[in-house]
Amino acid sequence: MRKPFIAGNWKLNLLTEPAMNLAGELKNRLRGVDQVEIAVAPVFTALSAVSKVLAGSNLGLSAQDLYWEDAGAFTGEVGPAMLKDVGCKYVIIGHSERRQFFHETDESVNKKVKASLKSGLIPICCVGELLPEREAGKTLSVIERQVKGALAGISKAEVPPLVIAYEPVWAIGTGKVATPEQAQEVHQFIRKQLALIYDPTLADSIRIQYGGSVKPDNIKDLMKMPDLDGALVGGASLKAETFVGIIKAIG
Ligand code: PGA
Repeated sequence: MRKPFIAGNWKLNLLTEPAMNLAGELKNRLRGVDQVEIAVAPVFTALSAVSKVLAGSNLGLSAQDLYWEDAGAFTGEVGPAMLKDVGCKYVIIGHSERRQFFHETDESVNKKVKASLKSGLIPICCVGELLPEREAGKTLSVIERQVKGALAGISKAEVPPLVIAYEPVWAIGTGKVATPEQAQEVHQFIRKQLALIYDPTLADSIRIQYGGSVKPDNIKDLMKMPDLDGALVGGASLKAETFVGIIKAIG
C-alpha cells in the first residue's frame, strides 16, 4: 500500500544544460514506469529549466531546501511559493549536509517541514546519526530527537504527505551502505515513533526512504525490508545508467 519512492538528490552538481540533458534522458528511459514514484532534485538555478524538460512525464521535481517564508527581507532565501511557481512537487529538508555545514537545527527543520506541508509541497525530511553517535550506541535516541523535533506541532491532519529519509551520515557518499538489517532496525523505530506521535494506521501509510550509498546492486536487498519504502540517492543519481538501474531493479 506504500508506493516505493526513489528520489535523486543532485546536490551541488550539474549546470543548467547537463541538468536538462540528464532529466531528458531519465524521462525517456523511465517512460511508462508507474509502479515506482520518481523525483529528481537539481540545484535551485536549474529547477525552472528541468521543470520544462520533465513536463508531462512521470518524474516529479524536488528542491533541495527551502525557507519557511514566502516573501520578505530574507536575502538569499527561496520560499515555498517560489518552488511551487517553478513546478516543484517535493522539497528535501534537513539533509545531513545542511545540518553539518549550514547550521540546520531540529527547530529550523521543523519550521521548514511545517511551511512545506502548508504550501502543498511534499517534504522529504532527512534524519540520521553520525558515526560516533552510532558507535556510542546513541543511534535510536538521535533519531527519536530528530523525528520528534521535525514533527513538533504538526497535526495528524497535516502530516500524511510527509516522506522521511533515514540517512546514516556514515553511509552518505562513502560507498559504505548500511546493511538491510541496520536500515530496517531504524526504519521500524521511526515508524514506531510515528505511531506514538500520531497513530499506527497513519504510521503505516508514511513512506520511509533509505539513503546512503544506494546503488543498482544493493537496492534490491534493502527493499526486501518491510519498513523500507524507497531511497534518496546521491552519487548514483547523477548518471542515468545508475539511477535508472536502481529504479528498474525494484520496478
Ligand atoms: P549518496 O548520498 O547516495 O551519494 O551516499 C545520499 C544522500 O546524501 O542523499
